[in-house]
Amino acid sequence: MNENADNNNRYAVVGNPISHSLSPRIHQTFAKQAGVSLSYKAIELPEDNFEISIQDLQQQGYRGLNVTVPFKQQAWHLCDRRSPRAEDSGAVNTIMFLQDGNIAGDNTDGVGLTRDLVKNNHALIKRRRVLVLGAGGAVRGVIPSLLALSPDNLTIANRTLEKAVQLAKDFIAIGDINTSTYEDLGREKFDLIINGTSAGLNHEIPPVPKEVLGINSICYDMMYSTDGSTAFVEWAQNLGASRAFDGLGMLVEQAAESFFVWHSIRVDTAEVIAELRS
Ligand code: ATR
Repeated sequence: MNENADNNNRYAVVGNPISHSLSPRIHQTFAKQAGVSLSYKAIELPEDNFEISIQDLQQQGYRGLNVTVPFKQQAWHLCDRRSPRAEDSGAVNTIMFLQDGNIAGDNTDGVGLTRDLVKNNHALIKRRRVLVLGAGGAVRGVIPSLLALSPDNLTIANRTLEKAVQLAKDFIAIGDINTSTYEDLGREKFDLIINGTSAGLNHEIPPVPKEVLGINSICYDMMYSTDGSTAFVEWAQNLGASRAFDGLGMLVEQAAESFFVWHSIRVDTAEVIAELRS
């Protein structure tokens, strides 16, 4: 690819830590597929002075950034304008540096999750009972997209109940959310159970009672591993969940939506998911 064109079309993912990010590989593959010349790096930012780091990248001529843990909420605050889905979710994972010097923010995580569930894995959300585990930043980012698909019922269970209650309050304008501790979930069954906790980072699973699983329940882990197995996926399979998926497809779908936001080109995600799995 032409190096000058790459230099004029610079993108990156910023986070801390970031060294294991698959985003550079995913975006380079999309670029090749779309015939776009660009560079895409993974940049680890210091935990402090996020705003200064972003302004520095803007001055260096970057066109856009993906933002990951732990900076998504800070990115929301520093954007001069936000898409409605970013506005609602309270988190930004996609930044665009505009010609006029302003910074625009979007959030593609929610659509990434729902596309992987509905389009790639044929899971139903409409009129289904959906349980989300966790009430942190990752969950906050995807709630508007889940509510937009009209589940019969959306319940958030969290170790710290107050955080789930706060989250439900924050989204009251766009939909009803039930909240619970893990113990109080009791024997209620759910059609779709989404793990949005960070427990998997320590190879743990949240203490969700096995009774939430019915014979047709689908489990989805927002964490991923390239071989498709995570602690939560294994837990679900061991309990006989009808289907259990990790979040690699979500990662690729959110990247594809960011690619569309920046380049107005839709890419084929199936090919990239298959390549990452192989
Ligand atoms: P993220 O940005 O990844 O969402 P976060 O905002 O720190 O990170 O949220 C982490 C979520 O995972 C929280 O819901 C947390 O539960 P608490 O709010 O009770 O802390 C949840 N979590 C982390 N480790 C967990 C574990 N071992 N069991 C259950 N929940 C866990």
